[in-house]
Amino acid sequence: MKAIVQHKYGSPDVLELTDMATPSIAADEVLVRVRAASVHADVWHVIAGRPFVLRLMGAGLLRPKSPIPGTDLAGTIEAVGGEVGSLRPGDEVFGEVVRGHQWKNGAAFAEYASVPAKALALKPATVSFEEAAAVPTSALIALSNIREVGGVVEGDRVLVNGAGGGVGVFAMQIAAALGGHVTGVDSAAKLDTMRLAGADEVIDYKKRDFTTSAEPYDLIIDIPGNRSFADLKRALVEDGRYILIGHDHYGDTGSRWIGTTIPRMLKLEATAPFGRRKRRDKADEADPDPMETIRQMLESGQLRPVIDRTFQLEQTAEALRYLMAGVARGKIVVTM
Ligand SMILES: NC(=O)c1ccc[n+]([C@@H]2O[C@H](COP(=O)([O-])OP(=O)(O)OC[C@H]3O[C@@H](n4cnc5c(N)ncnc54)[C@H](OP(=O)(O)O)[C@@H]3O)[C@@H](O)[C@H]2O)c1
Repeated sequence: MKAIVQHKYGSPDVLELTDMATPSIAADEVLVRVRAASVHADVWHVIAGRPFVLRLMGAGLLRPKSPIPGTDLAGTIEAVGGEVGSLRPGDEVFGEVVRGHQWKNGAAFAEYASVPAKALALKPATVSFEEAAAVPTSALIALSNIREVGGVVEGDRVLVNGAGGGVGVFAMQIAAALGGHVTGVDSAAKLDTMRLAGADEVIDYKKRDFTTSAEPYDLIIDIPGNRSFADLKRALVEDGRYILIGHDHYGDTGSRWIGTTIPRMLKLEATAPFGRRKRRDKADEADPDPMETIRQMLESGQLRPVIDRTFQLEQTAEALRYLMAGVARGKIVVTM
């Protein structure tokens, strides 16, 4: 099969198209003929090996343990392992080979991938392979943070900072589906994307400071993580919640060892009483099958992926460079 590989960490230049053996499958896995795979910030983290700490967290110390990058895919099942009862050859599926924030290569940028059956859901017929591949990691992060951690209920005022990006678009759609009143904050070029994603109000961060809003928010989902905790506290109601997603801006910010997000998260944990107010604990309501929830939301039209651009498998390095340029208004997808 054709696959993209990296034998060392670095810029997108380390990616090569090569021929490899088709992967074998374990008893609980399926072999997927990959039709589309998406590019997102965590894919960049592992290709670059940044922050360095990820190399100690299982990605591989000197070089990636698994040479094929990519985590999110959509495709058709070719074969199923002996213990898989839920899926059959011919089924069209989508999913996330490696869970977000695990920072490991998942081998999605290839013509075939072996995937644990439990990581996949059936692709709704109304959604293309490209659209389905764009969803898993971004939407799963958004779903758990908006619903389980953020505990959004009907009428909550929800602000998403960095709402025009990969996670933000889904965060707004999920908050809107739960009955939240949603405000999206991003650059002027992304105001229309945010409106299409269901924002009730949009703010251009270069023109207006959301932390001085007259009406405070019940929940702030913060993707760029660029504001002081004092400013954010001012923008929240008394028992408001703050959730930091964080963004390392492709190595432009933060330390090479631990990036920007890890130190900010540690500081947040250490900052009482603000830290104590950062979540409404809904752990007992954890979703046993979040991919099935995502599938249902796609089928019902509550989640609508926005594709900015698609690239061929051999153009994966170009797709990464496009992601790093920060100009995409929606998701970037590689097709096979
Ligand atoms: N997407 C995923 O699937 C995924 C998976 C796992 C983890 N994550 C984590 O989640 C983080 C965010 O990912 P993402 O895909 O949503 O990134 P993204 O697509 O780059 O979105 C970030 C958004 O923040 C905006 N932004 C930048 N500076 C801002 C500011 N000062 N105020 C308000 N908005 C600002 C950017 O817009 P401009 O550049 O136009 O200003 C951009 O639209 C990443 O760090 C990543 O590690 C993402």
